[in-house]
Amino acid sequence: MTEYQLIDSRDAVYREGTIKLHTEEGFEGMRRAGRLAAEILDDIAPLVVPGVTTAALDDFVRERTLAGGAVPATMGYRGYAHSCCISVNHVICHGIPSEKTLKDGDIVNIDVTPLLDGWHGDTSRMYYVGEVPLRAKKLVEVTYECLMLGIEQARPGNRLGDIGAAIEAHARQYRYGVVREFCGHGVGRLFHDAPEVIHAARAGTGPLLKPGMFFTIEPMINAGRPHAKMLSDGWTAVTRDKSLSAQFEHSIGITEDGCEIFTLSPKGLHKPPYV
Ligand code: MF3
Ligand code: CO
Ligand code: CO
Repeated sequence: MTEYQLIDSRDAVYREGTIKLHTEEGFEGMRRAGRLAAEILDDIAPLVVPGVTTAALDDFVRERTLAGGAVPATMGYRGYAHSCCISVNHVICHGIPSEKTLKDGDIVNIDVTPLLDGWHGDTSRMYYVGEVPLRAKKLVEVTYECLMLGIEQARPGNRLGDIGAAIEAHARQYRYGVVREFCGHGVGRLFHDAPEVIHAARAGTGPLLKPGMFFTIEPMINAGRPHAKMLSDGWTAVTRDKSLSAQFEHSIGITEDGCEIFTLSPKGLHKPPYV
């Protein structure tokens, strides 16, 4: 049983485990936070080149987020001390920025979440470092398609499981593995809220989608087996079989007749190559 809860500016009561139905105020807040998040990912594109450290990219994200009037929601989140997550090659998600340099042929996910005026804009994209092998490009292309096919299912009357079913069906055609250990999530005034958005689900299952629901869709797709392993740093998730992994993420809101993507690139830099 799923409960629904109408939220407006005077509603200070946030009950655990319920899916919020946001009002126009929420849409306006998420539009602004989402736009800033997308602009950060647009602006970082020229910096993702061989030889750059992921710490330098993290510095850029922090400065660009602050310049936009926001703070990086990841800083201090459950002890995380950085402004974004940067996940390279076989890292599935939550890669920690470091002094390691990117090298020609790497594929990289950058995941940013500016918190602007109380709203979280959560989005990630893949980037190519120099010349990338064809099989890595194929994984990135198909992962982007998985996200967009999932988003196509995000409309009133459908169920949450329809999203994961569309993603899984597409990935399966390429014999890619859909990661189960990490999910999309409700988003808004909270960074991570109900519901959990499973990326490999059964069609027709899960909560009914209703106007005003805000959540992320963020499929993590592996070129090999779907299984994840956590490194000893407690954050970095990698593929167990060392296969490459890719991810794209948007924050969306369900509308009367479909959904609104809050984190679309203003410059049209939806997927690599960005030049
Ligand atoms: N942005 C990530 C997500 O999509 C969450 C990162 S939390 C962190 O949900 F602490 F790892 F940064
Ligand atoms: Co997210
Ligand atoms: Co994210």
